[in-house]
Amino acid sequence: MFNIKTLETELLNRIACAEDLDSLEKIRIFALGKRGRITAEMKNLAAMNPQARKKTGKALNQLKCLVKNTLLARKTALSSVIMDDCILANRVDISLPVPPEMKGRIHPITQTTDEIITIFAAMGFVVVEGPDIESDYYNFEALNFTPNHPARQDQDTLYLKPDKNGERKVLRTHTSAVQIRTMEKQSPPIRIIVPGRTFRSDHDATHSPMFHQVEGLVIDKVSHMGHLKGCLIDFCQAFFGIKDLPIRFRPSYFPFTEPSAELDIGCLRIGHELKIGHYGDWLEILGSGMVHPNVLRNSGLNPSKYQGFAFGIGLERISMLKYGIPDLRPFYENNLRWMHHYGFLSFAQPTIAGGV
Ligand code: PHE
Repeated sequence: MFNIKTLETELLNRIACAEDLDSLEKIRIFALGKRGRITAEMKNLAAMNPQARKKTGKALNQLKCLVKNTLLARKTALSSVIMDDCILANRVDISLPVPPEMKGRIHPITQTTDEIITIFAAMGFVVVEGPDIESDYYNFEALNFTPNHPARQDQDTLYLKPDKNGERKVLRTHTSAVQIRTMEKQSPPIRIIVPGRTFRSDHDATHSPMFHQVEGLVIDKVSHMGHLKGCLIDFCQAFFGIKDLPIRFRPSYFPFTEPSAELDIGCLRIGHELKIGHYGDWLEILGSGMVHPNVLRNSGLNPSKYQGFAFGIGLERISMLKYGIPDLRPFYENNLRWMHHYGFLSFAQPTIAGGV
């Protein structure tokens, strides 16, 4: 005769010994599956007399219940062991020291370029680039510097050896060359800024033979000197973060603009220190003017139809002023200690909303 107690002991033993969820499932099928031991005994009930059926039926139901509960309890226990193992394996040791400080820094020139782009982008300007090695035509001639123009003297530069056709290319002395390249390619309205490297044969504490500029050019049918002034005043206030920054436009001369003006900002000299945003001295930071009709003509635009303004900002000068960098020369010396002092962390990205 089948002994229900023996089956119970066997099943509970097996459950207690199960070491993982797979073997537990096998035991469940062995006991309660379609052809399982308990299921089979249930089927046998039909052949029993009513009294025995009642007694054995009750005992089998109790056993079924017991086995189900024990399976569940074992399953829960095994799952939490698996979870514990998993937690242990993926453990994060929060007592570790913070990662070593990031070594790299954003160079002040790169940071300043990004700040300028951010400000002008918000005014609807797009970024354009041009080559460092330029023809005499784009760098001088098309910008209204005739071959013997005295203004060429101010922008003496480095010349390359003449090529096969006898043409001597120059390292561009200013980003203004890109004005012509853009007007030749694109019809107005034009609203561009041109960050880039420029070269002149200068070398002292405040001049480097290689330096950086950002050119700006606006060409349409209506932009006038008032727009030039408004645009540059807005730029200076945003860049230096000083609302009532003293600014003056001083008449000047460039062959490619008429009228021309240089923009000075107010500063105070206290000993060796320069404080911007105060009345005292004036410091020149950019050149600007209304695009000369000859320049428009040279670029294939009709000066009685189109007009506009241009400006060129010296990047080193304004980043020295904004960030209190006293000397120009270390900008190009690749000195890590200098970079750590004056450089920027990569997450200090300039934004109009966050302030540049
Ligand atoms: N290209 C001039 C310079 O390098 C600056 C400038 C740009 C002036 C555009 C007027 C208009 O000095």
